[in-house]
Amino acid sequence: MTGTLYESAHAKINLYLHVTGRRADGYHLLDSLAVFAGAGDTLALHAGHGAAGAVSLDIAGPFGAGLAADADSNLILRAARLLRSEIGGTDRLDPLHIVLDKRLPVASGIGGGSADAAAALRLLLRAWPANVPRERLMALATELGADVPVCVDQRAARMGGIGERLDPAPGLPPCGLMLVNCGEAVSTPAVFRARAPVFTPAAALPAAWPDVAAMARDLSGLTNDLQDAACALCPAIRTVLDVLETAPGCRLARMSGSGATCFALFDSPQAAEAARAAVERPDWWVWAGSLFA
Ligand code: C5P
Repeated sequence: MTGTLYESAHAKINLYLHVTGRRADGYHLLDSLAVFAGAGDTLALHAGHGAAGAVSLDIAGPFGAGLAADADSNLILRAARLLRSEIGGTDRLDPLHIVLDKRLPVASGIGGGSADAAAALRLLLRAWPANVPRERLMALATELGADVPVCVDQRAARMGGIGERLDPAPGLPPCGLMLVNCGEAVSTPAVFRARAPVFTPAAALPAAWPDVAAMARDLSGLTNDLQDAACALCPAIRTVLDVLETAPGCRLARMSGSGATCFALFDSPQAAEAARAAVERPDWWVWAGSLFA
């Protein structure tokens, strides 16, 4: 290939997250409303070197240092390997080089690694001549991680199953959003292990929300079932939530995914930006803006 192709990997926010059951293999069944933030990583795809079908990776950006680029653990390289074996006929495939600009905190409940993997799948499918049916693409995504399928389309969706079943989300109002991360990585399996062993039924949602106030009102009755366990493992999350809950204009504050990143909803991106000064702390990552989808 010639030139450079780009994909954005937007942060995924779980507006609520109910653990509805547990599969025999230990994975948990979820009901969650996932939306996407304007914040995200960027992936750039260039011509690479080496053998046909080889994919190399460089990691840059403010959170790049926290991430390994090895073939076994890095989700971008795992996505490339999986897609390559799905396509077959590796000798036809150009060698490619990906540069990840890591702008989202790592292992932080906003699906950064999953969004990167999904963006890598989209990028590679633009560069390699392949016709991978959507159901195969989604199966590969699920193999990479429970949050990867929803990140393939980066559209607000209701997640079911372990995350692989996607249904349309209610219509969302224009919305201001703040993301805050306390700087501590939280292990997803550890949070699942630490949660109280109770299950919450799937939520009943309207077809659409007319405004942020109505959305926040409905969501206030729904939980993130991982939040208490994550706060017990990482008390700084509780501090972040206390600060967000009292920030001017905040309609709802909650943890995303298995943490540690928390989000707050505001009536507008301007309202979110205006609350920034009341929230910022030296060690915290704070982002203010709007929903992407
Ligand atoms: O799928 P992913 O790699 O993101 O999940 C990381 C870990 O989180 C899993 O190995 C599992 O322990 C836990 N998990 C779970 N149920 C889910 C998603 C994740 O138990 N639906």
